[in-house]
Amino acid sequence: MIISPSILSADFANLERDIKAVETADWLHIDVMDGHFVPNITIGVPVVASIRKVTDMPLDVHLMIENPEKYIEPFAKAGANIITFHYEAACHSTRHIEDCINLIKRFGIKAGMSIKPKTPADVVFPYLNELDMVLVMTVEPGFGGQKFMQDCAEKIPAIRQKAPANLIIQVDGGINAETARICTFYGANSLVAGNYIYKSSDIKSAIASLR
Ligand code: DX5
Ligand code: ZN
Repeated sequence: MIISPSILSADFANLERDIKAVETADWLHIDVMDGHFVPNITIGVPVVASIRKVTDMPLDVHLMIENPEKYIEPFAKAGANIITFHYEAACHSTRHIEDCINLIKRFGIKAGMSIKPKTPADVVFPYLNELDMVLVMTVEPGFGGQKFMQDCAEKIPAIRQKAPANLIIQVDGGINAETARICTFYGANSLVAGNYIYKSSDIKSAIASLR
């Protein structure tokens, strides 16, 4: 199980401290929001470049932005190891989706595509052989601390069934020890958690409880 703590729930004035606090996890999840694709603005390229200098954790960059193709190169050069864009930001053409995947892979890093709660699972099927990861959102993207929507996690088995064995299926939104079990049962092998990890009094145990 790949655990990816979301720094959206960290204290941005103490970001290095809060990154060190989760280094027993596997990846570091960085939520990039542009105020257009989602109604919130968070982290940009310079912050990712600064994070790169203070940790060796793989940086799992979740782009919740319009025109993802414009920002893949800067985020890759800033040190991202996994870049995930949203299907809904690229779905006006198959070509656009393929361009995003190819652009990410050109940097020798992992390519992920995410689907929002109302997007059906089957839209990812044509791309499963090219993608390294599918991210199934279990909340509406935009904010941490929202309630897990189980019907979204129910999309996972259909993706798992069609996917090559090495596809990573990540879940993001409302993950805690209990909802993690549900996602694992459905076939997820990567979990993002923000509030559950960062609001815990024992961060290491919270991370361990998701495994
Ligand atoms: C939501 C973000 C998530 C968020 C998860 O749009 O993509 O990564 O940080 O936060 P929790 O785990 O608190 O739901
Ligand atoms: Zn995220």
